Amino acid sequence: MKILIVGSGAREYSIGYGIKKQDKNDEIFYMPGNGATDEFATNLEKMSYEDLAKWAKENSIELTIVGPEDPLVDGIVDVFKKENLTIFGPSKDAARLEGSKVYMKNFLQKYNIPTARYIETSSLEDAYKFIDGMDKLPIVVKADGLCAGKGVIIAQSKDEAKKTAGEMLSGKAFGDAGKKIIVEEFLDGYELSMFAICDGDDFILLPAAQDHKRLKDNDEGPNTGGMGAYAPTPLANDELYEKVKERIIKPTLDGMKKEGAAFEGVLFIGLMIVENEPYVLEYNVRFGDPECEVLMPLMKSSIKDMFYKAATNKLNEIKVEFSEKYAVGVVMASKNYPYSSSEPAEIILDEVVHDEIAKNTHISFAGVTRMDDGKLYATGGRVLICIGLGDSIKEARDLAYLRCGQVHFAGKQLRTDIAYQALGK
Ligand code: AMP
Ligand code: GLY
Repeated sequence: MKILIVGSGAREYSIGYGIKKQDKNDEIFYMPGNGATDEFATNLEKMSYEDLAKWAKENSIELTIVGPEDPLVDGIVDVFKKENLTIFGPSKDAARLEGSKVYMKNFLQKYNIPTARYIETSSLEDAYKFIDGMDKLPIVVKADGLCAGKGVIIAQSKDEAKKTAGEMLSGKAFGDAGKKIIVEEFLDGYELSMFAICDGDDFILLPAAQDHKRLKDNDEGPNTGGMGAYAPTPLANDELYEKVKERIIKPTLDGMKKEGAAFEGVLFIGLMIVENEPYVLEYNVRFGDPECEVLMPLMKSSIKDMFYKAATNKLNEIKVEFSEKYAVGVVMASKNYPYSSSEPAEIILDEVVHDEIAKNTHISFAGVTRMDDGKLYATGGRVLICIGLGDSIKEARDLAYLRCGQVHFAGKQLRTDIAYQALGK
């Protein structure tokens, strides 16, 4: 099959790598890809969505998969569908579930889907009134639009909540993205990510994963895009999966159809579990990164078939099977992440001679560039992620860290406690 993947991170790498591993005959293209995707695929120059759709048509691309949220929120799926191309991802209208927190919260409320109590407002006076009426601390204040993961403040006092609301509404904090805000109650529990592959009507729920958002061990340091993940997590049991399907995913798909924006694509459900009850913290309309990197290797059935069937509204025709194994992924980030960019640093990968490491680990690459000297350099952000697969989380984690020990570049940063919530410290 000829497949086009939009994006350049380790998430997109892991999708292409997983597809290619299952079937060497597949031909994969990336727009734009990174310095390592060209080892098994062809990278295309950056171009507009219109030009990309034209290229896909001319080159008989049979399936396009979109990784990041920006092209989805911008409407890439609508552009491709207009050209009768098969593309996996939500339409611009459906992508509002991620693009606007206000849209998402109002949707959850309308369809009775469990979430934190909130108000949505653009009036400072209303925000103050709601904050004054809240009986518990902390208080959560969120900007409406996409703020690269920075638009959520957990305020420890009513004064701080009011100040934050003021800064967001004035446009000072996040510009237009903060002109509308959400103020909501704080949910005290543990966070899980679940991913449903949806075709508008039906869905397949993947094993639950856990991300590690803080830069440093013990969940300290600044927030990042995610420093590691593992799946499946024992923090989700069968009862919880059932609750998520019945109370969250089904009403979401039904609701989106009623709204005239049937949801096709990855529904990423950010959950807070409070006393074994799931609440939606947020929706994203794409895979988590690094969650995707630990989910793809757990796919026993065909990855491309699942995406293709989802994109053609035929998920009910397939049964998806997952491996019995566990996957742990440890991100290695560049020196100044997440504050600023870093000098390019040459990456040295030791030759993997140990059979067990060779068989049960691999690397998904993200912020890497192949320079003129033919060598791979770390050129920013999260550089790569080492994945280990094992019969237990511990075995998978040990293997992931063994692989990390064989990767060298100046200034590398990694956490040493990925999967601690499942294993203890
Ligand atoms: P969001 O972008 O809405 O997922 O928020 C980012 C992070 O803020 C989440 O991953 C949680 O850690 C935290 N958070 C957001 N909303 C709440 C809430 N209502 N209660 C507790 N923590 C929250
Ligand atoms: N790992 C969290 C995210 O992709 O948003």
